[in-house]
Amino acid sequence: MIKELLAYIRPHRGILVIGGLLGLVGSVAGLAMPLLAKYVVDAFGQDRSMAGPLIGLTVAVVVGAVVSAGGNYLLERTGEGIVLGARRKLVDRMLRLTVADVDRLKPGDLLSRVTGDTTLLRAVLTNGIVNSIAAVFMLVGAIVMMATMDGVLLLVTLLVVVVIGGMTGLIMPRIQRAQQQAQESVGEMGAVLDRALQAYRTVKASGAEEREIAVVADAAARARDRGLQVAGWTSLAGVATWMAVQIAFLCVLAVGGARVASGTLEVSSLIAFLLYLFYLVAPIGQLVEGAVQLQQGLAAMKRIKEIEDLPAEAVAVIVPPAISSAISAVPSAVPSAVPSAVHSPGNPVGVRFENVSFRYGDDRPVVHDGVTFEVPPGGLTALVGPSGAGKSTVFALLERFYEHQGGTITVAGRDIRDWPLGELRAALGYVEQDAPVLAGTLRENLLFAAQDSTKEELRRAIARTRLDDLVARLPEGLDTAVGHRGVLLSGGERQRVAIARALLRRPRLLLLDEATSQLDAVNELRLREVIAEVATETTVLVIAHRLSTVTDAGRIVVMEGGGVRAVGTHDELVGRDELYRELAATQFLVT
Ligand SMILES: Nc1ncnc2c1ncn2[C@@H]1O[C@H](COP(=O)(O)OP(=O)(O)O)[C@@H](O)[C@H]1O
Ligand SMILES: [Mg+2]
Repeated sequence: MIKELLAYIRPHRGILVIGGLLGLVGSVAGLAMPLLAKYVVDAFGQDRSMAGPLIGLTVAVVVGAVVSAGGNYLLERTGEGIVLGARRKLVDRMLRLTVADVDRLKPGDLLSRVTGDTTLLRAVLTNGIVNSIAAVFMLVGAIVMMATMDGVLLLVTLLVVVVIGGMTGLIMPRIQRAQQQAQESVGEMGAVLDRALQAYRTVKASGAEEREIAVVADAAARARDRGLQVAGWTSLAGVATWMAVQIAFLCVLAVGGARVASGTLEVSSLIAFLLYLFYLVAPIGQLVEGAVQLQQGLAAMKRIKEIEDLPAEAVAVIVPPAISSAISAVPSAVPSAVPSAVHSPGNPVGVRFENVSFRYGDDRPVVHDGVTFEVPPGGLTALVGPSGAGKSTVFALLERFYEHQGGTITVAGRDIRDWPLGELRAALGYVEQDAPVLAGTLRENLLFAAQDSTKEELRRAIARTRLDDLVARLPEGLDTAVGHRGVLLSGGERQRVAIARALLRRPRLLLLDEATSQLDAVNELRLREVIAEVATETTVLVIAHRLSTVTDAGRIVVMEGGGVRAVGTHDELVGRDELYRELAATQFLVT
């Protein structure tokens, strides 16, 4: 753990040392000041010119101040650098985690790790370490001086300090644990606050404000309690330091007094020794403070490591051609992607599920129990079935958000486990069931999956998804902000944005999960035509919720209870499958 902590400092060690040295020079200049003041006064008394000493004093003041400020700035700068490094590393991992891991984690807590825990690292890594090192120097200096005074008394002093120091050492792990719990409580508070903010309208509509406030306040109170624990242990460590010196003082006084009485020690030596003993207070205090900060840093470190230790997905991002050739020259871990796969419309792929079994976790029920079906390249295929049949899971497995446990899934005849992940995802366009829209502008949202689309492509996708009216109506057109999660758009508008986004990716396989469920009849009809048109150039797999979508489909896969019940065209299935007949009879397929 300490090694991990040092790893954050290593890139900054040069500046850290310089900053520490400047601080030291600054304090030496400070120490010289009384002496220079004495010269000024002496010169005054002896009627000599004061110019020399005064200039010396001024220079010492200015240089001392500038050097101290510079040293301080460098230390703070190092602190910021360390925080930046920790944040970059943490965020990098956070956005590459597997979907399965992220399902378990709480967004609010993750946020607090990036903001809060990384900040905690700063204090330890700069003040903590620099002060501790300075303290060690002072301590060694004082001990050397004490040794020249009297060896026996030094032994007594060290004995007391070591015994009480050892006891303080026992407190340290407790400080670390309490600090970690304090940070966890802060994370918890973030998580419950996030829950309320994510469902803000539901909270209000349910009249649950008071309850949610109480839940967040509870979490805040727990954070306070943990913080108090840290404060308690820290104070105890401080008291122990103070006691160590006091007890050492008494012991030295007793032993030294006896030795003075017996004539083996001079009184003046005893007095000097006692003065040095008090000189120890500051460095020991600093060392204890440094140790406390180290514990706090370790606590933060543990929470940061918890995320960094989670496995990352294999590099998933397709690199644009210019950069990818530059990268492939370096024999790094980045697999050279096939950029042509991104933009090769009219190159549809087929999909095959063969006896696929899957569950979301070992303690979870089986979702897919031998799912088998085939989708030929090109054309429109519909997935239908009751809610919970595992339709959306089919898409999640195709995107490799989760790894299926048994059977084989192939895309373009190639096992998806053999596809480089980035390439596989680049071949897919995916519109999720709840059509997420990100905060930002409409343009950002549309270009999210295909940054290098041309103006013409963008215009066409907007026209196809009938977003032109919306764009014309918005105050700043495409550059209008859509609000947090697209709240400023209607449900149907969000769905059309999501579809346009997927089309702009020019996928070889388009996955639409109930993507038109919130559209009005006119827009739905229009988009059905667009989907039919797209299906002539790529493979389209839709999870259907309306009979109208299904009747267009070249083939329909009926799923139920973790398996595929029947496959066929609408007419075939109406004649042969009872569930399908039932679903079709209601016009509206259950979703
Ligand atoms: N991320 C998940 N973690 C755990 N269980 C899930 C997850 N997503 C879906 N499920 C479960 O898997 C089953 C199938 O879900 P899904 O594929 O979404 O059904 P459908 O789309 O056919 O309505 C459901 O019982 C659901 O509770
Ligand atoms: Mg679903």
